[in-house]
Amino acid sequence: MNKGKKLYEGKAKIIYETNEKDLVIQHFKDDATAFNNLKKASVEGKGVLNNRISEHILTSLSQCGIKTHLIKRLNMREQLIKHAEIIPIEFIVRNIATGSLSKRLGIADGTILEKPLFEYCYKKDELGDPLIAKEHIFAFDWAKEEEINEIDKMTFRINDLLQGIFRGVGIKLVDFKLEYGRVWNKEKNKSEIVLADEISPDTCRLWDVKSEKKLDKDRFRKDLGNIVQAYQEVARRLGIMPEETNISEVNFGKATSLKFKKKK
Ligand code: TMP
Ligand code: ASP
Repeated sequence: MNKGKKLYEGKAKIIYETNEKDLVIQHFKDDATAFNNLKKASVEGKGVLNNRISEHILTSLSQCGIKTHLIKRLNMREQLIKHAEIIPIEFIVRNIATGSLSKRLGIADGTILEKPLFEYCYKKDELGDPLIAKEHIFAFDWAKEEEINEIDKMTFRINDLLQGIFRGVGIKLVDFKLEYGRVWNKEKNKSEIVLADEISPDTCRLWDVKSEKKLDKDRFRKDLGNIVQAYQEVARRLGIMPEETNISEVNFGKATSLKFKKKK
């Protein structure tokens, strides 16, 4: 698989073309941003951790019948994925009120929601990804009604599966963001919806069940410190990083496969 030219660079990832038209490489950067790019930093090791965590989660979802863009992880920072046409909507699911929901509507932080709350945001950096109604999606033809119906069903199921995955390792899934895309299914000769992008502590709020300690990007947003340590904790609990591993000791420049150095 040859890596070709850069097709797109986002805030946390880069997409490269490959010698196969339908496949691209997704590269995870260490860059962290918040508040629509107003706050920026490089968090050493974040890209490696998100690559590994997202691979683990998408693989688990795929084993439960969710179609995803992931083909395989290639190395420490890169995955081979299907080249999907991304639907320009951020699909947000909330199980507990916090973040922009609490701020916008004055709902007390930590309020448990009776059932998952779905929100839709228009993916447009220049506008700060505004919250929209479902009707806007159809009015401006960002996706078809059948597509959104299918996505809503997938999102509901993913929420159940993710809650189970995290609850099993002592983590509450507070909220998260998903993205979907269209890929061409050659056998069926039609386009189909796949889960795209990533699922990682950058795109989820994850709280420790007992202490409610934040194990996600809120550590960066709110200047809580120990960002990489929190992401590492998530990876360790998911069983994808040996107990004794300390990611800050990995030589990121040279590492091409997932070999973490053991702490002495
Ligand atoms: P919010 O409370 O800031 O709206 O965030 C809701 C969830 O969506 C939270 O888990 C973080 C995630 N999210 C992203 O992944 N990307 C984004 O650009 C935003 C605003 C939120
Ligand atoms: N990803 C968004 C940004 O860069 C917002 C966020 O995750 O808080 O600004």
